[in-house]
Amino acid sequence: RVIVREDFNVPVSARGAVMNDTKIRLALPTITAYRRAARVVVILSHLGRPAGRGKDESLKPVAQRLAKLLHTSVEFFAQGPTAENVELTKRLPRGSVVLMENTRLFSGEESNSATLAKRLAALGDVFVMDAFASAHRSHASTVGITKFLPSYAGPQVVTEVDALSRATQHPLHPFVAMIGGAKVSTKIGLLRKLLQRADYVCLGGALANTVLRAKGLATGASKVEEKLIPLLRRLPLTTVVQPFTLVH
Ligand code: 3PG
Repeated sequence: RVIVREDFNVPVSARGAVMNDTKIRLALPTITAYRRAARVVVILSHLGRPAGRGKDESLKPVAQRLAKLLHTSVEFFAQGPTAENVELTKRLPRGSVVLMENTRLFSGEESNSATLAKRLAALGDVFVMDAFASAHRSHASTVGITKFLPSYAGPQVVTEVDALSRATQHPLHPFVAMIGGAKVSTKIGLLRKLLQRADYVCLGGALANTVLRAKGLATGASKVEEKLIPLLRRLPLTTVVQPFTLVH
């Protein structure tokens, strides 16, 4: 039984529809390969930043989309790593796929509780960390679980680390870095590093909006991280062009 931590933190509409399934599609080759080799593939992921249990943060719509993409049924463990669900992982037919409910809905995920990590670990025999975008979080489903099972880096983590290592350790010049995304706060450290190494850094998404706002430009209703504006003002951001924010 293989447990795979994926990053299925995808946008889900208020009506429960997955708005963008790129992250799910990226995990399909890994899941398909493990299905061939394993009895059962148990997938763990978080969704959003829920403060407590709530319907809005359920991974159920993701289970439905995953089933469609894999052309197979996906067992959804809404109750978490209960004793019954652990037993079920041992009885499911070969090649079964299980998606656990949003790990952040279980007490102890974000505090990296050993109790939760151990309960999650009971769902499998090996653990694979394939969620590069969650690898900076020391949570029960990313770090804690590795204390209880033989653990490996998954293909997506290996690919990302290889690409980043090539780009940051021995970059060819001119070196142009492009960064987008919604959360400036988690990218500011990377942005500082890239500004030292890259010849150009192109920003998109909410990161660019926040820079534009820091430069006094109107950003309308676009997402901006107000708290980071003073910090961005101190970075050497000199040129603004459209459609990208060009930082030299
Ligand atoms: C992301 O979408 O950036 C990752 O899933 C991480 O989410 P988090 O910042 O809520 O941990």
